[in-house]
Amino acid sequence: MTNPTNLLQNQSFPEQSQPTTNEETTHFGFKTVAKSEKQQMVANVFHSVAGKYDLMNDLLSFGIHRVWKRFTIDCSGVRKGHKVLDLAGGTGDFTAKFSRIVGETGEVILADINDSMLRVGREKLRNLGVVGNVNYVQANAEALPFPDNTFDCVIISFGLRNVTDKDKALRSMFRVLKPGGRLLVLEFSKPILDPLSKIYHFYSFNILPKIGEVVVNDGDSYRYLAESIRMHPEQDILKQMMNDAGFEQVSYYNLSAGIVALHRGYKF
Ligand SMILES: C[S@@+](CC[C@H](N)C(=O)[O-])C[C@H]1O[C@@H](n2cnc3c(N)ncnc32)[C@H](O)[C@@H]1O
Repeated sequence: MTNPTNLLQNQSFPEQSQPTTNEETTHFGFKTVAKSEKQQMVANVFHSVAGKYDLMNDLLSFGIHRVWKRFTIDCSGVRKGHKVLDLAGGTGDFTAKFSRIVGETGEVILADINDSMLRVGREKLRNLGVVGNVNYVQANAEALPFPDNTFDCVIISFGLRNVTDKDKALRSMFRVLKPGGRLLVLEFSKPILDPLSKIYHFYSFNILPKIGEVVVNDGDSYRYLAESIRMHPEQDILKQMMNDAGFEQVSYYNLSAGIVALHRGYKF
């Protein structure tokens, strides 16, 4: 039988978070592509997976994404009457929860660049009876179409990784937060335990695309998922990026030993 650790040793990965692009290029997974191309390539991924996105989330994370999301809500400080932006909100898991918390006097905006994801999200939330205080906006995180100082909380969950210009997006989130508001970034990150890291990378690069192939008939999108996780800025780099965008008191929590990290920062 093949030993997964040996397979991993034969597999070469680019170093996580190495700035190997220039002003005109960026990463799409492990590929270096023109910045102008990335948005469409990401759009193709989410158009392709939208219909089975929720099922795949549960399958691929063994349901653990629900625990990460629960923890994020507990750290959000969101209360009745608050205005929340669920950015890159996709199928609206956070919108559903926050809609209940903010109540009739509050508002949640589910914003996403991708109309397929928004459509699936809107239908799911309507079926769940989440109506009244939720609005839907198709928007790019890099250029948010909201006035300055609008939201008490902005959450971007498993979205920042896909954004072409992350610094620009963080500055845009900072702008739309009210003074005293907070940004929560839930995202895949760098595992902090070496043995776990090896198993995790074997799973990501060898098993995850195969499940994508079988369930969604699209292994490439799930290969992109694995590669984009590997290329995403690790914990301390993202913390610095948030500081550079203007956020204060930035801290992070490693979840599942750093497979995922929740970063939190404030606008004062
Ligand atoms: C992995 S899904 C996350 C969905 C949801 N937030 C969750 O946690 O389940 C990533 C989402 O980011 C969206 N996205 C990618 N680039 C974006 C951008 N530049 N601006 C806004 N949304 C974007 C995609 O369309 C997709 O719906």
